[in-house]
Amino acid sequence: MARRRMIYEGKAKILYEGPEQGTIVQYFKDDATAFNAEKKAVIDGKGVLNNRLSEHFMTGLNLIGVPTHFIKRLNMREQLVKAVEIIPLEVVVRNIAAGSMSSRLGIKEGTPLPRPIIEFYYKEDSLNDPLITEEHAIAFGWASQQDLDEMVSLALRVNDFLSGVMFGIGIKLVDFKIEIGRIFDGDYQRLIVADEISPDSCRLWDMETGQKLDKDVFRRDLGNLADAYTELANRLGVMPKNQQNDGPKLVHSGDEK
Ligand code: TMP
Repeated sequence: MARRRMIYEGKAKILYEGPEQGTIVQYFKDDATAFNAEKKAVIDGKGVLNNRLSEHFMTGLNLIGVPTHFIKRLNMREQLVKAVEIIPLEVVVRNIAAGSMSSRLGIKEGTPLPRPIIEFYYKEDSLNDPLITEEHAIAFGWASQQDLDEMVSLALRVNDFLSGVMFGIGIKLVDFKIEIGRIFDGDYQRLIVADEISPDSCRLWDMETGQKLDKDVFRRDLGNLADAYTELANRLGVMPKNQQNDGPKLVHSGDEK
């Protein structure tokens, strides 16, 4: 197949021009990075898993009326999405203290929060994606007050949906990050959930054992990342049976007569 024109290559995905105006093909790589790409690895199968997992969550959101960029999956590693103008803010929702909030504020990891906390980070690798306030976003023109209000409302709806999905499979949704984009319909602008929703951008803890099923497995060297993502996909029933990675299988024991 003729290769499509590449628009952008990020740390975990590549974007290509889509077949129609207003569409983009999103390709999921096997690359894993952490700490602003200070730590890197290629994890066999991660792209295939995240393509499926993001499809699963975005489809569910579309079905309950939370607008997302997702149109359809094209193949193992690619999905067709709506082209958006990405707002340069990462929206993080936290239900339980962990990660940078725990280290910044000295709140012990695992402390349940009295209400979901929403944070905005400015998407700028050269500055290490700093935490900002709404005042900065408005003053520097990254988003208007109305955009920010809509982003908070979208983020809370995603939080309710994802928390419920995870609860159903015995997992606590500790926190997650989403990105939001603008689409234009004439002069009218709408905000929709874009980028990806996958264990690369969530913290997911098993409810009974506390086992981590997200990118912290890679960030903190806790084991095999693809195994953790496969466990999540299996619990969700996301991977078709013949693509499930159950590890090596003995096909010939060598002692048949
Ligand atoms: P943090 O505790 O490191 O700030 O991360 C909060 C959530 O955001 C966590 O679920 C991981 C996700 N995240 C990303 O998706 N991309 C990033 O670059 C960072 C720093 C965090």
